[in-house]
Amino acid sequence: MAFNKICYIVALGFLLPFSYAHTDFFTSIGHMTDLINTEKDLVVSLKDYIKAEESKLEQIKKWAEKLDQLTDTATKDPEGFLGHPVNAFKLMKRLNTEWGELENLVLKDMSDGFISNMTIQRQFFPNDEDQTGAAKALLRLQDTYNLDTDTLSRGNLPGVKHKSFLTAEDCFELGKIAYTEADYYHTELWMEQALKQLDEGEVSSADKVYILDYLSYAVYQQGDLSKAVMLTKRLLELDPEHQRANGNMKYFEYIMAKEKEANKSSTESEDQADKETEVKKKDYLPERRKYEMLCRGEGLKMTPRRQKRLFCRYYDGNRNPRYILGPVKQEDEWDKPRIVRFLDIISDEEIETVKELAKPRLSRATVHDPETGKLTTAHYRVSKSAWLSGYESPVVSRINTRIQDLTGLDVSTAEELQVANYGVGGQYEPHFDFGRKDEPDAFKELGTGNRIATWLFYMSDVSAGGATVFPEVGASVWPKKGTAVFWYNLFPSGEGDYSTRHAACPVLVGNKWVSNKWLHERGQEFRRPCTLSELE
Ligand code: OGA
Ligand code: FE2
Repeated sequence: MAFNKICYIVALGFLLPFSYAHTDFFTSIGHMTDLINTEKDLVVSLKDYIKAEESKLEQIKKWAEKLDQLTDTATKDPEGFLGHPVNAFKLMKRLNTEWGELENLVLKDMSDGFISNMTIQRQFFPNDEDQTGAAKALLRLQDTYNLDTDTLSRGNLPGVKHKSFLTAEDCFELGKIAYTEADYYHTELWMEQALKQLDEGEVSSADKVYILDYLSYAVYQQGDLSKAVMLTKRLLELDPEHQRANGNMKYFEYIMAKEKEANKSSTESEDQADKETEVKKKDYLPERRKYEMLCRGEGLKMTPRRQKRLFCRYYDGNRNPRYILGPVKQEDEWDKPRIVRFLDIISDEEIETVKELAKPRLSRATVHDPETGKLTTAHYRVSKSAWLSGYESPVVSRINTRIQDLTGLDVSTAEELQVANYGVGGQYEPHFDFGRKDEPDAFKELGTGNRIATWLFYMSDVSAGGATVFPEVGASVWPKKGTAVFWYNLFPSGEGDYSTRHAACPVLVGNKWVSNKWLHERGQEFRRPCTLSELE
């Protein structure tokens, strides 16, 4: 199980600094904003080029017009024209030097500035991997948030500021990416959308024959033979000579005939077996489904009786001198496991400082590959992160002290402050923050025991998506700028609390900044004493 290994990766990340050949733009908005500026510079440089080219053409035009008039007059009466000594001189001068100059002007390359700008900027452009990554993020969002293809293509998403839509060509591109991943479900959806937009009259360079070719194959792969036949027929109407389509058609007909034959002899017992698996499917909600439902805000509802026991209060850190006169607002988010949220707990200025410190160091978050033992990137953890030490900024140090005061736990044994940025599609699938019994080495190098608790600051609002969800218990915690949530990962006995399994939902619109502090067991011996029972 790959997820199980994730939790201690972060610890490893902090011990082994490494460099990246590529920055994985699509994983965070931080780096993508640089690209927006690059593009803006390129547009300015392109416009300069157009201006230069236009002024060059203008000069050439003027010359042509002048010469047009002159040659008109001259050809009408060449002898009379040349009878004027100035005309004779000028003719010599024009032909000997001026036409040559014009030739040079025509040959002059005005594109230097723009091309050299392109050459420099191109080094920082996203590559195929980034484009595929961004496309896959779109497909992931489509699934998690149950978005139909048309809604996504027309850009009708909740909370968007800048509406944007996909062309038939874009839809075709998405379909092709799904196809190369052997993801025929999404291939079908996106090829169908491309076709629909073309049928509605969209002007495009996308070709219906190509689309139908992919679409019929994707449909066939998913077992809908009659639809595959229908689509192939449509393709053949457009291009009767299409070789593969003609071949496929024969093959489909052959298979259909064979299936008919087989169906005749099928027995009822199979139907019975089908029904049984159907029932099983309904009873058992796999974690993935629960996770996605929680992300969409379709939470399993807490009973009113339990809800009534959730309170909000002013909290003084258990009579901490720093908070007696100015207690902080605290809200219960969940009862079991207990998750509390602190409000107005980090200021906008502090957030800006933390983000600025982290930005130059953000790199793609990694996980531990159990097979190779190496750190790698994984689709289940798509974000960029950086670690900040209390020594490098009084703001970070102040934040650490605040966490210590309000949790009552010693932060000197905690990991450094981790700052994470999730771009659109960024996520962290269900995982535990603590190391389990079967991974005793998880935090060995730190020498401070297991991760007793997690403190998570929300450093931005997220327009849509991006909740922190706990699929075991059905809790969704929504990001709210300036707040923080806190929970214990371990029981007082030191046993891991499996109900704390949690995930960061993919960001649908906007971008998400969080920072977390993982507190460790050492140093808490008197602050959170052990109990007699294991799971209390
Ligand atoms: C983590 C984590 C949750 C979130 O980084 O371990 O669970 O909402 N993050 O970002
Ligand atoms: Fe986590």
